Amino acid sequence: MQSLSTKHLLGIKDLTPNDIQLILETAKEFKEVINRPIKKVPSLRDVTIANVFFENSTRTKLSFELAQKRLSADVINFSASGSSVKKGETLLDTVNNILAMKVDMIVMRHSSPGAPHFLSKKIEANIVNAGDGTHEHPTQALLDSFSMMEKLGDLAGRKIAIIGDILHSRVALSNIFCLKKQGAEVMVCGPSTLIPKFISELGVRVSHDVKEALRWCDVANVLRIQLERQQIKYFPSLREYSLYFGINKRMLDELNKEIVLMHPGPINRGVELTSDAADSHHSIILDQVENGVAVRMAVLYLLAQQN
Ligand code: CP
Repeated sequence: MQSLSTKHLLGIKDLTPNDIQLILETAKEFKEVINRPIKKVPSLRDVTIANVFFENSTRTKLSFELAQKRLSADVINFSASGSSVKKGETLLDTVNNILAMKVDMIVMRHSSPGAPHFLSKKIEANIVNAGDGTHEHPTQALLDSFSMMEKLGDLAGRKIAIIGDILHSRVALSNIFCLKKQGAEVMVCGPSTLIPKFISELGVRVSHDVKEALRWCDVANVLRIQLERQQIKYFPSLREYSLYFGINKRMLDELNKEIVLMHPGPINRGVELTSDAADSHHSIILDQVENGVAVRMAVLYLLAQQN
């Protein structure tokens, strides 16, 4: 049986192309399982997993919890709000107390880049990064690749444009690593203030013209403006951002080609995407959410084999 090269999933940067392929192939099998009348398998029976969320989440938290339950794991959930973190307890003390309850695996979201990497040096349990600040969101990139492959097949040579707030996006960085490791071509597009200066060193094209990006790509993965991470103004107003970088259905229809529209959520409707685009036949946004469960089942299952 094939296995991963790592006992944690901290970021896509650390994965080999074989790891990515193994996760995506395993996810395909789990997608078949969760579409059966009986959706549950005993693969992680007697494995206990804690979902430790220091930042808000809808999709990632529910998707991990459902993936764990479909695999028959025992699940506990921790949210920083309402916990003893509010009384000053440290990250390490919090996690060590959770582990003292005989927990085998930690799924963690944290606002500080590198928080799961720090933990991986201090504890024995497997760690899955569910988003660390502006750094990485590996399972989002894996489910994005899985969803693109369902539409397009092999991603080698495919053209993917990532459009929006690249500077504050962990989804962008994880997608760039994931797509490049599979041989895809990647373009980032947004206002120059929201594109990091180092980005071309990652082997991606850069554009500031959303119509050019749409003409170029097979897939447009559109990102949210992350106002909560912006301490200064990066553009004059949301109205102006929407005017220059927003995407509507007419723009997609006028391309006269097949284009796949993606968004990791949550969508700011009327800012980066109009509702008629987000809900159009071009969009696979809800397929991404559906595929998240199968991809996270694959990640948890494969990491559990490492122990
Ligand atoms: N895509 C994503 O990470 O969404 P949540 O913040 O709702 O988990």
